Amino acid sequence: MKLVAFYSRAGENYFGGQYRVIEVGNTEKVARTIAALTGAELFQIRQVVPYAWDYQTCIRQAQEDKRANARPELAELPENLEGYDQIYLGYPNYWGDLPMAVYTFLESFDWTGKTLHPFCTHEGSGLGGTVQSIARTCKGAHVKNGLAVWGSDADNCLEKVASWMQHDTTGGAAG
Ligand SMILES: Cc1cc2nc3c(=O)[nH]c(=O)nc-3n(C[C@H](O)[C@H](O)[C@H](O)COP(=O)(O)O)c2cc1C
Repeated sequence: MKLVAFYSRAGENYFGGQYRVIEVGNTEKVARTIAALTGAELFQIRQVVPYAWDYQTCIRQAQEDKRANARPELAELPENLEGYDQIYLGYPNYWGDLPMAVYTFLESFDWTGKTLHPFCTHEGSGLGGTVQSIARTCKGAHVKNGLAVWGSDADNCLEKVASWMQHDTTGGAAG
């Protein structure tokens, strides 16, 4: 079975040089596209205390968590990953890194023998160092080539996602 686990934040965002309110986060849109193409189940990685709705406060909170190397508590976790062999992991790029709550998620499971397909949304930084961070954190996993989607392209990512899936058979280090 396949799983799409993703972190994403709706609310006030900043892209294309202006503030905009989005009802569904960019990464969630890509996650839903992947789920539609693969039949995978969806799991949203949610913090017990989510970051603020307004963008500037969110930036400050996320920065504090990154500086502190925090592991924000999650609202829920899948009981285990036993039934899943292919896991798509989605997140926004936060300063070239994963949101800290994604580390909370990754450190909650044994990844031995799992195949991980990372994907991110961003505003120019692409995947940054996230694929390497995932491989370092998920010991024993096969971490495949990542997909980076601009936030503003999340609504129209079907072709890009489909092409990534077709070519996603190579690459990646075992963690
Ligand atoms: C706290 C924070 C830090 C960010 N840092 C970066 C960055 O360093 N590089 C980048 O390209 N985009 C950065 N972004 C933009 C997000 O990666 C982008 O808007 C993404 O699509 C948000 O996904 P979401 O709507 O699923 O949460 C940042 C956004 C936030 C909120």
